[in-house]
Amino acid sequence: MAQMTPEIMTALRAGRIFPLATASRDGEPNVAPMGGVFARDPETIWIGNQFMKASIQNVLENPRACLYVWGPGITGCYKIKGDVKVKTKGKDYETMKEQVAKAKPGLICRSLLVLKVTEVYECMPGEHAGDRLI
Ligand SMILES: Cc1cc2nc3c(=O)[nH]c(=O)nc-3n(C[C@H](O)[C@H](O)[C@H](O)COP(=O)(O)O)c2cc1C
Repeated sequence: MAQMTPEIMTALRAGRIFPLATASRDGEPNVAPMGGVFARDPETIWIGNQFMKASIQNVLENPRACLYVWGPGITGCYKIKGDVKVKTKGKDYETMKEQVAKAKPGLICRSLLVLKVTEVYECMPGEHAGDRLI
């Protein structure tokens, strides 16, 4: 696994919406906006599945995903790739379910996507655009 730097963790915590890219087993791409994205520790990002259809189907059959980190309040621009495990029970899932319900009463977290970071890339235009950072 890769370790996100404090700058990348700060960018994730400052952002509101993150496009999540996935692909089916046979390579059909998908992207969807996600707000329930939380940097848990330097190698782990939690994403709440409240409304996913293609995204959840994709990570179940092809457990890789890519998050794009840029927008208001964010310093820098990053592309984060990782391995995804889907949890529908256990302590972590229950914690996320509570967090989602607290953020928006009535909203139900159907499953928790645990993304273990494997790579981070620079997305800012310029000399280092596209370079692998981690
Ligand atoms: C601003 C915004 C934030 C969203 N956040 C989430 C989220 O955290 N979790 C989720 O499951 N869906 C979220 N959605 C809804 C999904 O992006 C939407 O249901 C999408 O159609 C799911 O796409 P999919 O079928 O490609 O997985 C959000 C949508 C918007 C517009």
